Amino acid sequence: MNILVVGATGATGRLLVKDLLDRGEKVIAMVRTPEKLSELVANKNLTIVKASVLELSDNALADQVRGCDAVVSCLGHNLTFKGMYGHPRRLVTETTRRICTAILANKPEKPVKYVLMNTTGNRNRDLNEPISLAQKMVIALLRLVLPPHVDNEQAAEHLRTKIGQNNKVIHWTAVRPDGLIDEDTVSPYEIHPSPIRSALFDAGKVSRINVARFIAELITDNNTWEKWKGQMPVIYSRESENN
Ligand SMILES: NC(=O)c1ccc[n+]([C@@H]2O[C@H](COP(=O)([O-])OP(=O)(O)OC[C@H]3O[C@@H](n4cnc5c(N)ncnc54)[C@H](OP(=O)(O)O)[C@@H]3O)[C@@H](O)[C@H]2O)c1
Repeated sequence: MNILVVGATGATGRLLVKDLLDRGEKVIAMVRTPEKLSELVANKNLTIVKASVLELSDNALADQVRGCDAVVSCLGHNLTFKGMYGHPRRLVTETTRRICTAILANKPEKPVKYVLMNTTGNRNRDLNEPISLAQKMVIALLRLVLPPHVDNEQAAEHLRTKIGQNNKVIHWTAVRPDGLIDEDTVSPYEIHPSPIRSALFDAGKVSRINVARFIAELITDNNTWEKWKGQMPVIYSRESENN
């Protein structure tokens, strides 16, 4: 498969690129700083494109996605004042919107998979996901003070409402990790259609390497894809008896 990864230099993106390369897939990593992928650069299945995704023209973006079987966004706002409050305020949403437009413009013969790394702080409005009044109030506040939260919500809404369930060209999944942690190896994890705990008041954990593994499985394993296509699966690392 040919898989384009944006956000490939991020803490999760890098692990995803490695997981896909380890499976023998061909990966195109669109990155601002190629040096951040220096440990993978020798792999002949990796193509690094130095570009800031939102600065590409529509035509250039369409060229990049042409021939891709899947696109993954592991983008996230850098956790600095500029990253959170500077431009682009809608990094993830605009990237999702523009890449989807580029895929549609190419009129590919086979559907293209789009996987968005999202968050349990976001709800799947196709499902009746209950949240407490307190959580509703905190999320309303987060929308006011944390632009990246709104960005994550709107990116998933673009897939859910603008691409939808019956699109013949783009099939999508928005993966919702709970609190991200770093671990060296993949461990048992569980996937649910909706959160099983409060993302704000009782957050669970998931390692980035487990998120990368699940996304790689989604892309390369048809059964996994068919199970979660058009949904917003939530991922938690399984708690060991020692936790
Ligand atoms: N932290 C949590 O507990 C948590 C929980 C659930 C979901 N999430 C979500 O998970 C996602 C990924 O998390 P992560 O920790 O793996 O991300 P990360 O390490 O912060 O990586 C972010 C990626 O986005 C890229 N990026 C940032 N600003 C950009 C811009 N203006 N133009 C182009 N690329 C840009 C970065 O590129 P550079 O390397 O060039 O900066 C990097 O590749 C985020 O959307 C986050 O909201 C986080």
